[in-house]
Amino acid sequence: MNNEQIIAEEKDCIFQTYARFPFVITKGKGMKVIDNNGNQYLDFLGGIAVDVLGHCHPKVTSAVRKQINKLVHVSNLYYTIPQIKLAKLLCRLSGLNKCFFANSGAEANEAAIKLARKYAKEKLGADKYEIITMKSSFHGRTMAALSATGQEKIQKGFEPLLEGFKYAEFGSIDSLKTLISEKTCAVMLEPVQGEGGVKVPDAGYLKQVKELCDEKNIILILDEIQTGIGRTGTFFAYEGFGIKPDIVTLAKGIGGGLPLGVMMANNKVAFGLSAGSHGSTFGGGPVVCVAGLAVLETIIKEKLTKNASETGAYFIEKLKELVVRYKSIAVDARGKGLMVGLELTVPGKEIVNRMAQKGYLINCTAEKVLRFLPPLIVTRRQIDKLILALDEVLSEAKL
Ligand SMILES: Cc1ncc(COP(=O)(O)O)c(C=O)c1O
Repeated sequence: MNNEQIIAEEKDCIFQTYARFPFVITKGKGMKVIDNNGNQYLDFLGGIAVDVLGHCHPKVTSAVRKQINKLVHVSNLYYTIPQIKLAKLLCRLSGLNKCFFANSGAEANEAAIKLARKYAKEKLGADKYEIITMKSSFHGRTMAALSATGQEKIQKGFEPLLEGFKYAEFGSIDSLKTLISEKTCAVMLEPVQGEGGVKVPDAGYLKQVKELCDEKNIILILDEIQTGIGRTGTFFAYEGFGIKPDIVTLAKGIGGGLPLGVMMANNKVAFGLSAGSHGSTFGGGPVVCVAGLAVLETIIKEKLTKNASETGAYFIEKLKELVVRYKSIAVDARGKGLMVGLELTVPGKEIVNRMAQKGYLINCTAEKVLRFLPPLIVTRRQIDKLILALDEVLSEAKL
């Protein structure tokens, strides 16, 4: 089948919920993926922050292969060792106390929202159910996660939304203060907004949010689904901002490409969920958990958080040089670690397409922000190559 036939067949049988690129990826190794026509691409999107170790990392594939021959699935009614090992390591890395395993980011956030409400209801009173999230946030596509997401375009058509969400301006402590009421049980936010346009808050903002939450006895939930697993230069982004939340959610990078989401909490709030109050058939199965362990152990052993921090800084510096050269198109290069954005004055779609034609996978978010979320193994040399290609594309766009 040629690509035209594959695309027609897909259209015939799959919901058209994704605006896909017109090529078919068949293989991946490290930073590279290959399509069915043999074209190679350097993957600077990494499955949207999923492939933290690159594609088909031997430690992950070998752990999965071994586990698949031993035990693939039993119900969560039974104990399994990989789940316990992964939870122990996550607790050590996070300084939090308990893990709940789910299959995706949205599900991890659902668990966080349920835990916050249950804890507040039992501990603080029946009327404490409101959660303040941020404008231009993204928390997922299920109904509660969608209601938490502060973007009308994501919510439109799915109303009525879940009751009890309010949206503050990201980065403004005053905006948050004005929304807090007797009913507020939690504040939920991404430390760095991803889908919202790679927005990094000012240095003191998250500390102020934490202090306000402590003062008002409000639960702080951090959605680290995109920022976590070393991406921003520390294992959790909150370490870099000098705070610790009550609840944190993870997904994307943790499963090494396999579907794994985690909601973690401290002991203060964790008791909110007891036997029978929440669950997942597949959550925390042995195969995804051995993959998760392999990911975390490799990040630690190969000091990939350090690489994220250093190569990320180098990357942003290089993009800043492009901003100086192409002022009319590029206005800001920003990010934290390897969560990197280049804000344009024009919609970025065409530039993303041109980059793909040149063999570089990136995407565009918030319409005008080119987003780069490469595996944490990316090298300066690979960054230099991408910058060269982007330089060419921007110079063509300028003409
Ligand atoms: C910050 C954040 N939260 C939640 C989600 C939803 O994750 P999933 O697509 O695994 O449900 C995403 C996905 O992009 C995300 O970036």
